[in-house]
Amino acid sequence: METNKAHLTKDGIRLYQPDDFAGMAKAGALAAQILDSIAEHVFPGQSTGEIDRLITQMVDEAGATSATIGYKGYQHASCISVNHVVCHGIPGDKKLKSGDILNIDVTVIVDGWFGDTSRMYVAGAPSRKAERLIEVTHDALMKGIEAAKPGNTFGDIGHAIQLFAESHRMSVVRDFCGHGLGRVFHAPPNVLHYGRPGTGARLEEGMFFTIEPMINLGRPETKVLADDWTAVTRDKSLSAQFEHSIGITADGCEVFTLSQTGKFHPTYGV
Ligand code: MF3
Ligand code: CO
Ligand code: CO
Repeated sequence: METNKAHLTKDGIRLYQPDDFAGMAKAGALAAQILDSIAEHVFPGQSTGEIDRLITQMVDEAGATSATIGYKGYQHASCISVNHVVCHGIPGDKKLKSGDILNIDVTVIVDGWFGDTSRMYVAGAPSRKAERLIEVTHDALMKGIEAAKPGNTFGDIGHAIQLFAESHRMSVVRDFCGHGLGRVFHAPPNVLHYGRPGTGARLEEGMFFTIEPMINLGRPETKVLADDWTAVTRDKSLSAQFEHSIGITADGCEVFTLSQTGKFHPTYGV
């Protein structure tokens, strides 16, 4: 019998129970582990379709389910967004070139819980400006996560991200946002990556959602290609994205999709 009555805030945001954090942590850990494992398969000459095939295999071998295969007709276990592709890039035969930067986004379902995370990779060595973009985008996500605590609002998260990105003369994509998740893939609220302090719903313990800023070197405008999925920058400038799934705790948040091996942030040179 279902004794755990689902609780919704006045904004329609579900509040999960303390026990639910463990389910999310398990799903998040698998998604993160897949992104760790895929790193060695990203190199010049590799196709994004082959990367997706490997991800599909990893999801299967873990006994999990891909949340994206069959989602609104999407047919792949990942979105792979190269260079000026902002998000929802479809894996295919095209081969990566040296210097390409790419986001790989994976969502898995484990025991009914959704783990959604993405991060940036580079085929070969990035240009200096691409490296800066990746760095700023990663750090912008971290600014958002720092603002994710009870008492703050969703506007505080968006503002922290926007302030940081724009202080580096980069722009925040407005056309796509983060989302509530948990036992479902996409739920209220829309988590905007820009905003004004103190606006929007107040954060409460038990809220589960993603933060997934897309940051452009040029202007923020995007357009969706004829395939109805691929979103690109209108000005063809480079775009980057990082995504974590988090849960609000009594005094901050738990990040469900941390890399167990410290590979979330790409390291260069060495
Ligand atoms: N994982 C994406 C997100 O962060 C959604 C991908 S939906 C797909 O919300 F169908 F394009 F895969
Ligand atoms: Co997401
Ligand atoms: Co995602």
